[in-house]
Amino acid sequence: DGNTTMDPLVAAVDQGTSSTRFLVFNARTAELISHHQVEINQSFPKEGWVEEDPKEIMQSVYECMERTCEKLGQLNIDLSNIKAVGVTNQRETTLVWDKETGEPLYNAIVWLDLRTQSTVERLINKAPGRNKNHLKTGLPISTYFSAVKLRWLLDNVEEVQQAVLSQRAMFGTVDSWIIWCLTGGRNGGVHCTDVSNASRTMLFNIHTMDWDPELCRYFDIPMEILPKVRTSSEIYGWMLLLVCQCLGDQSAALVGQMCFKDGQAKNTYGTGCFLLRNTGTKPVMSDHGLLTTVAYKMGKDQPPCYALEGSVAIAGAVVRWLKDNMGIVQSTSEIEKLAAAAGSSYGCYFVPAFSGLYAPYWEPSARGIICGLTQFTNRNHLAFAALEAVCFQTREILDAMKQDSGIPLKQLQVDGGMTSNRLLMQLQADILCIPVVCPTMSETTALGAAMAAGAAEGVEVWSLSPDNIPNVTSETYHPQINTDESEFRFARWKKAVQKAMNWET
Ligand code: G3P
Repeated sequence: DGNTTMDPLVAAVDQGTSSTRFLVFNARTAELISHHQVEINQSFPKEGWVEEDPKEIMQSVYECMERTCEKLGQLNIDLSNIKAVGVTNQRETTLVWDKETGEPLYNAIVWLDLRTQSTVERLINKAPGRNKNHLKTGLPISTYFSAVKLRWLLDNVEEVQQAVLSQRAMFGTVDSWIIWCLTGGRNGGVHCTDVSNASRTMLFNIHTMDWDPELCRYFDIPMEILPKVRTSSEIYGWMLLLVCQCLGDQSAALVGQMCFKDGQAKNTYGTGCFLLRNTGTKPVMSDHGLLTTVAYKMGKDQPPCYALEGSVAIAGAVVRWLKDNMGIVQSTSEIEKLAAAAGSSYGCYFVPAFSGLYAPYWEPSARGIICGLTQFTNRNHLAFAALEAVCFQTREILDAMKQDSGIPLKQLQVDGGMTSNRLLMQLQADILCIPVVCPTMSETTALGAAMAAGAAEGVEVWSLSPDNIPNVTSETYHPQINTDESEFRFARWKKAVQKAMNWET
């Protein structure tokens, strides 16, 4: 199409927990022009441990870029039309590498990993409730964030200790690793991160917007191994194309859903599920188990924008577990068929607390539980209960947000891979008792990153001219059950959660 080839293009690497993608969008119309996706292996070397191979992550990035560019070639689109490339990523996942050899010094410790549970329990017992660190970081002490993972690497991996001593160690979350590799690696790669990713480490002060020496002392982290913190939309460096930004994936989805105003919110269903509500230029501290996080800072002269976040560790991951660990489904898309055949869970409740429970409970010792089984229960009911669990967890977050802000959401904007599951979306509307709005183009995370990259390079992207926003089509799911039924099921779910939290007693 002649038009398409003439319009500037913006692209994004989207490195998620389960897969990597590279996507190219038309900067004027937001149309997805071409993309490629590669699944990422996870390893579970010990119970509760979750790792990924940093080299495999990079290979997947290169493969996705190459294949997407090939596809553009087949469409007769010149690569020089790509004006900027953004990076968006799974957050908190922790890496250390050697800047001289370019080699990772250990596997990436994935955000879901529980190896630091005893450290975290010790820290929680030392300073229960909200402490000084919480006020600085907006985060409760949890296995989720990078600082404790990095501490584990420093305590347990000799290669890391040696590299720190000889000043060769670089720490980073996945964004830093990708950008360092893409911009030259050991031949002058740029070692940086953005404020949204930094705000998930527990080493970053969300008020001063910089690494905090006191927090680093608290976790005994050598500050020289930390990346430089940049804004979410500025030129970082060059590869063949211009790398213009990075944004944690949930921040990118907030941008991609155009939730720029105070009070606007989105929920993204990936490996986990993350509901972020824009709170404008003020960090709002939660009294109900939500995180305060930096959403983005779109350039050096722009103020930071904050969000309240409800993080659910296990969403899509429960479907992958039913497939890989239980063999109940052959493919993740098959779950919808099974759940539809069941039509209800018939009293079966499934709390997938595989990595403890995140918001609003923050209970690292919780474990998964399936209850309410009868002779009648079969795999279809289990599939239904797994999908319902994703919806109940989102409901818990929504309730916490309502309690914190006093303002209920009138509808929920959603995105992410699982939104193609229509049954899930209908269930979500039923359990929330509000409409659920799902964009036709569900790759909003990459769209947000590409938008921020384009903006940094001065490409006139649609976001800069809101009157000109292209036809973003969406589908709305309205609640179809009455509130009483919804409340009854939710109350049962909460009982099951209590069992998951106290399964040992
Ligand atoms: O905080 C973890 C989150 O960024 C991972 O997102 O999409 O891989 O589930 P996702």
